[in-house]
Amino acid sequence: MQSEEIRQRFLSFFEKRGHTIVPSASVVPENDSSVLFTTAGMQQFKPYYLGKKEAMADFGSKNTASIQKSVRTFDIEEVGDERHLTFFEMLGNFSFGGYWKEEAIKYAHEFMTKEMGLEIDYVTVFEGEDRVPEDKESENIWKSIDPNLTVKKFGRADNFWGPTGEEGPCGPTTEIYVKSIEIWNIVFNEYYQNKDKTLRPLETKGIDTGMGLERLVMVVQKVPTVFDTDLFSGLMQLTAKSPLDDKKKRILADHSRAISFIISDGIRPDNKGREYILRRLLRRILAQFDMEFIRLSIDAVIAKYGKTHKELKGDLILEIIDQEREQYIAALNLGMRELNKLESINSQTAFHLYSSYGLPLDVIKDKFPDLDMQAFEKEFSKHQEVSKLGMEQKFKGGLLGTSEMEVKYHTTTHLLHEALRQVLGKEVFQKGSNITPERLRFDFSFVRKMTEEEKRAVEELVNAKIKEALPVSYEDIPLEEAKKKGAIGLFEEKYGDKVRVYKVGDFSLEFCGGPHVENTATLGKFKIAKEEAVSTGTRRIKAVLE
Ligand code: SER
Repeated sequence: MQSEEIRQRFLSFFEKRGHTIVPSASVVPENDSSVLFTTAGMQQFKPYYLGKKEAMADFGSKNTASIQKSVRTFDIEEVGDERHLTFFEMLGNFSFGGYWKEEAIKYAHEFMTKEMGLEIDYVTVFEGEDRVPEDKESENIWKSIDPNLTVKKFGRADNFWGPTGEEGPCGPTTEIYVKSIEIWNIVFNEYYQNKDKTLRPLETKGIDTGMGLERLVMVVQKVPTVFDTDLFSGLMQLTAKSPLDDKKKRILADHSRAISFIISDGIRPDNKGREYILRRLLRRILAQFDMEFIRLSIDAVIAKYGKTHKELKGDLILEIIDQEREQYIAALNLGMRELNKLESINSQTAFHLYSSYGLPLDVIKDKFPDLDMQAFEKEFSKHQEVSKLGMEQKFKGGLLGTSEMEVKYHTTTHLLHEALRQVLGKEVFQKGSNITPERLRFDFSFVRKMTEEEKRAVEELVNAKIKEALPVSYEDIPLEEAKKKGAIGLFEEKYGDKVRVYKVGDFSLEFCGGPHVENTATLGKFKIAKEEAVSTGTRRIKAVLE
């Protein structure tokens, strides 16, 4: 079954069952500052759950269905593997004070098994926690439909959704798995989460479901990855015969779609917010592919999506890409020329090269290995103060090197590392780390899933240290001395050499080259977004600063 047919079948299935079909909203959320991009189908419907708008008045029904264009850049560094995408479409059915759990589950079951002919592997329901009770009702409904179905129970991390951003509608979920892959998330929106994390009952409780179109097509077409579905066939054919590795081919395919939709919804590359995300996506492919290839990829996107998405304008997309390419090359050239002229460097000049031309810090350090990093970081912080005062820029700093957010995440990683050791025990040590402007990722040795209490304890400890406004400083000392002082972290085993250790107040001492913020007070609020296994004995945390 082709993706076009799957789209059609989804919409008509719900239309026949009393849902009004609503077109996708823009990837840029309207009147919603909680997120940079539309990340879920429910986003355009938030006012209907909050009692601010009436579904009956606007749609002639309490129920709607849509296929929503969505952008999630949280996992941007992971794009290139078999399943991560920055742009995807979400099939969803919604109810605002209309039907509740029984209908929602029955519709989902019927659509999956009858319309799509898929076999459900298992489903999950919410196991209960604090003030939110176990979802026995959903379990019973699933069992009444199919007594042999496996129903697994999980806590907040897996079976509770929302809010997007700091506050908003949220609730327990039930999820459908096919071939061990999560396919459909059915959210029972019944709470509003306030900024202080407390819950109150929602004005209009209702249903919010989301099913990634790409994943559904993948299981229906029985192909191993989303990139093997017909949604990507034109894009992947372009590079099929080239010697590029799979990761690069997928990055080009994914980013070409994301860029096309983001530009067509009115965003232009720039240095902050969603404009900066677009610039990152653009520069990532511009750095790796020549323009001819990029042009063919955009053509392939238009060939696939032009009919279903009239807003896509190939010429405009290519024009913006061309402009960005020129700016990118010009900035790099200018920066390199400035750098080549210099015989010595001070921290202000280094910072200027870094922030104005986007020259990576590594390139600067290659020429001037003795660059005073502590002075450089002072410049960085000064710059942060200025930007806090007036410009409200979310992502400033180097475009290619380390941005202000990445520096913040770097310091936060040190706090997290020590907090994990204090909460889980001294057997925890770092196995890897990866930072983007959107989040930190930290891999560490630990044998089991963390409990909700442990995660909360780690969050609280990190946030307490941020509130304490601890100063960050470093010293270069012999390795043996650093070890004696109890420094943690990854380091190269070179005895006799001096190593750099960073101190965050008296809380953390860790081997590291920097850069870091000057004081933890600038970090914001720390939150663990995900905790999962990487391999036996190694866990991974993804966390964000809000
Ligand atoms: N809002 C939920 C999600 O994004 C279901 O649509 O998964």
